[in-house]
Order: sequence, then C-alpha cells, then structure tokens
Amino acid sequence: MTVIAHMSDLHFGRAVPEVTQALLDCLDQLQPELVIISGDLTQRAKDEEFKQGMAFLRKLRQPRFIVPGNHDLTAYNLLERLLYPWQKWQQYVAADLQPIMQTDAFMAVGLNTARRMGWYTDWSRGRINPGQIRYVQDMLQDVPADCLRIVVAHHPFWLPDSSMCRSLVGGREAALEGFQAAGVDLILGGHVHLAYVQPLHGMLISHAGTTTSNRLIQGQPNSFNVIRGDREILKLEQMEWRGTAFVPVQQQFFKRAAGGWQVHGNF
Ligand SMILES: [Fe+2]
Ligand SMILES: [Fe+2]
Repeated sequence: MTVIAHMSDLHFGRAVPEVTQALLDCLDQLQPELVIISGDLTQRAKDEEFKQGMAFLRKLRQPRFIVPGNHDLTAYNLLERLLYPWQKWQQYVAADLQPIMQTDAFMAVGLNTARRMGWYTDWSRGRINPGQIRYVQDMLQDVPADCLRIVVAHHPFWLPDSSMCRSLVGGREAALEGFQAAGVDLILGGHVHLAYVQPLHGMLISHAGTTTSNRLIQGQPNSFNVIRGDREILKLEQMEWRGTAFVPVQQQFFKRAAGGWQVHGNF
C-alpha cells in the first residue's frame, strides 16, 4: 500500500514556525514514502523565503516532489518576472519545473501551471497548454496497469461553489479530457487554500489547504492530506492543525470501477 503525504501553499515568509515543526513531527510518525508539495513554497519569491523553504525541505526525512505555484514568481520585480521568471526556483529548489517520479506503486507527473503573464489582469491565474497535456500522456503511456497515476499541478481543475470567485486553471477542459484518456487517477493541487476531494470524469481531484502559512481563509485551518492505497481502492485522509498538532479529521474512501473512481464511503 502506497502512503503519500500531499501538502501545498507552505508560503515561507508567512509560515508559522510552530505549525511547521508540528508538520515535521507528524510526518515522522506517518512515515509516508513521498511528500508531494503542490506549489506556493514562498510568499513573494524572495531569496530569504526560498532559503527558509529549502531549510524546511532539507529537514524532511522523506523524498520530496515539488512543483511551483504563482507565488513562486516575483510580483514586484517586473524585469525578473518577464525575463528570468524561474531563475530563483531553479537556483534554490530544483532545475526541473515539471518533475516525474516512478515507483512500482505509482507514477507522479508534475506540471508548472503558473504563468509570468497573460492577456488578463489577474496574473495569479494558472494555465495548462496542449504541450503539457501531451507530456502527461507521454509519461503515462507505458505505465503498468496497477500503477497509480498522479498529476500534480498548483491551480484548480475544479472548485466548490464557495470558491467560484477564484479562477479555474486555463485550458482545463482539454486537460481533463487528455488526462482521462491517459488513465489519470489523482489530480493534486492547492492555490485556493481550501481542502477538498471531488470525483470528476472518473478521476479524483484532491486539494490541500495551506499547510503551514497564516494566509488562512475563514473556517479552514492549516491542513495536509494523506493518500493511502493502490489503483483499486484509495483512502484520502485530511489532517488538520488543531492548535498543538495535526490530527485526522476526515477520511474518504474511493473505489475504481469501470467508469473510474467512485465514492466508497465517508468517515
Ligand atoms: Fe497560495
Ligand atoms: Fe497560488
């Protein structure tokens, strides 16, 4: 059985030290085989924030898999944003903005959906392009049938009614179609600082809240998710910060049938 921890929107620069330490303690107990971080490692893409983020990542005893978010692009230095948007990410975090990882149990494909600019006023919006959809399909082409297929991208492919004021990732329809054809099981993301799981087109869209930052929305404490299972049955558990520690607050079970993933129970 695979055990993966999924966190997001750590936002170093606005991270709470007490929560950050409790997260490391909790991970030591859970012992996931992988920690996935779905973007917004920093608050404003400052050198100091990247250094703080990397100090945290180096403390992880588990392998990590990380993609960037919109906050990992500078919002203040237009020259940096337009001419060399990912230089700091590649200097501090990873050369590869779209990592892949394959084990006997799963294949994870990371996508960079953050954009330095667009023909719209809100540059925090994300986008996925046809090349990225093909990339996912190519990476998953020869993956064994029993191998869990995971896509990690910062921006949302689905939003609950309460968050419809936020933007869905651009290019979403084509991406969902392409992912479904590639047999994707899980799409992991963040950005809206809200934890939820939604079956869609036979896939499971699972978002983590902001795991360590004080950029909270009302009624949503810091959180991360634990994914347990295989390509037949999955348990998605939400871990919430409750003042002194992260505790499990909700477990959802899903089973894969002919039409894809279906709800198998909530506890
Ligand atoms: Fe964020
Ligand atoms: Fe974001």
